[in-house]
Amino acid sequence: MLKTLLSHVKEFKRDSILTPICMLFEVAMEMVIPLLMASIIDKGVELGDMTHITKVGILMLVLALLGLVAGLLGAKYGANASAGFARNLRQAMYENIQTFSFSNIDKFSTAGLITRLTTDVTNLQMSYMMILRLGIRAPASMIVAMIMAFTISPRLASIYLVAVILLGIVLALIMKHAMKYFRQVFPRYDDMNASVQENVSAMRVVKAYVREDYETSKFHKASQNIYQMFCSADKVLSWNGPAMSLTVYTCILLISWLGAQMIVVGDLTTGGLMSLLAYCMNILMSLMMLSMIFVMITMSMASAERISEVLHETPDIVNPESPVHDVADGSVEFRRVNFAYKKDADEPVLRDITFSVRSGETIGVIGGTGSAKTSLVNLISRLYDVIDGQVLVGGRDVREYDLEALRNQVSVVLQKNVLFSGTILDNLRWGDKDATEEDCIRACKLACADEFIQKMPQGYHTRIEQGGSNVSGGQKQRLCIARALPKKPRVLILDDSTSAVDTATDAKIRKAFAEEIPNTTKFIIAQRISSVQQADRILVLENGQISGFGSHEELLETNAIYRDVFESQTSGNGDFDEGGDE
Ligand SMILES: Nc1ncnc2c1ncn2[C@@H]1O[C@H](COP(=O)(O)OP(=O)(O)OP(=O)(O)O)[C@@H](O)[C@H]1O
Ligand SMILES: [Mg+2]
Repeated sequence: MLKTLLSHVKEFKRDSILTPICMLFEVAMEMVIPLLMASIIDKGVELGDMTHITKVGILMLVLALLGLVAGLLGAKYGANASAGFARNLRQAMYENIQTFSFSNIDKFSTAGLITRLTTDVTNLQMSYMMILRLGIRAPASMIVAMIMAFTISPRLASIYLVAVILLGIVLALIMKHAMKYFRQVFPRYDDMNASVQENVSAMRVVKAYVREDYETSKFHKASQNIYQMFCSADKVLSWNGPAMSLTVYTCILLISWLGAQMIVVGDLTTGGLMSLLAYCMNILMSLMMLSMIFVMITMSMASAERISEVLHETPDIVNPESPVHDVADGSVEFRRVNFAYKKDADEPVLRDITFSVRSGETIGVIGGTGSAKTSLVNLISRLYDVIDGQVLVGGRDVREYDLEALRNQVSVVLQKNVLFSGTILDNLRWGDKDATEEDCIRACKLACADEFIQKMPQGYHTRIEQGGSNVSGGQKQRLCIARALPKKPRVLILDDSTSAVDTATDAKIRKAFAEEIPNTTKFIIAQRISSVQQADRILVLENGQISGFGSHEELLETNAIYRDVFESQTSGNGDFDEGGDE
């Protein structure tokens, strides 16, 4: 895990090395200054040597300035390296997410991915900065200060040693307690983000069902949870301060008292005592910093794991080694296909599916809710891979094709479709970025979208709001169909894409398809038999298996399910499920 993460700081190696070096330089300056101070007092003040005071004073000033510059540079390099690290992590995660197949996406929640890309990365960024700036500085400063203190007076310095050990134990206990809470905080961020994401994107549904209060209280609970976690952690951490102060003051008192006695008998100089007191602060501050680094690292360990989960997720649908780029024609064949969403599932979603379709045919697909219609067509553009058997397009296994080429040739209008914010033209060019305005208008005419677009104030330049909230359900469906056309696909799949379109327009779209793009193979999934009745052949699915395949007339004769549904729908009140289940 560490290796993957660290590979993203390679670019900032220089900054990552320079930061601790600058910080060490700053420490060195800080350490020399108390010594110079002692020299001023002992050799200058006590002996009345003004030139010594000036000389050493100027030296002190220069060293302090150098220390300051080193500190500033260290901060700059550190910020650079850590911000760059965060940027690289985000980009790498985002790129990897783009390669995810549908089944990879099924594994992560949207909210989880957002938290990982934001909060978790920020966490790592902060702790990386702290490690760079303090990780070497704090221990180095402590060790050097300790050595310096020992050279001045081993007897008094041993007080520090005892203090450091005692305080270290107390801090470790505090940390251990606080960590417990930090570990639990991040999964709770997921909950909170899930609540925001779900609610905001489904605001209209929430309003329609008057669920605002429920949603608000759900969010309150999620954010309250995080608040409580942090409060509990901070309550524990707040013991750091008193523990630290108590130790510092005890040390100062002890050193002053014992030091004064030593000065009286001549074992210590006044300057020596001053330096010792300065080192006292140094040592204990370093210990404090170390404890903070420790907290930060524990907090970010959880984040690091969550980030590398995304980075290590390998897409399970990838291009073959020498991919085929051309789809010869629009023929589609399923050979003994079994499919399940999870490899180890007991019950496959599709069982033993075998059929073949000639290029240019129009195929209706019909079946009850959950009969696996969507699952079946998703295999054609290889949104998922089969478990057994083969799916062939243009006479070749879909796994032999370049994914992009295949998906350009097999255009799917998904059942759960979305429009993106941007103009209508922008949305139409999603399918083919080089499509001309004429291509787009032609596509809209085919999909019967042209008529309502023309009526809009800015026509094809009308802005679509996020999620297509400013067009009606039927208009959105027609735009989604139009978007699939500029690519001039060989196979076009409409997954329940006209469910919100009125029957007359639905018929008009089908007629336009039959006349204008006769060579494209069309799969039309529908709930209404009237939508597929005119198709060359109709595939009837039941519980993931083919129950019938043939023309409308043939099916009426041979397929009981089809006949029942047809009768109930033409008599005016049935829908597929009612008929199909009988
Ligand atoms: N992403 C998924 N992960 C796991 N199971 C899924 C997934 N999508 C669908 N399923 C399951 O597969 C089965 C078939 O679903 P599918 O979406 O293919 O049905 P459908 O015929 O298209 O239904 P509808 O008419 O409602 O669109 C269902 O039992 C469903 O629960
Ligand atoms: Mg479906």
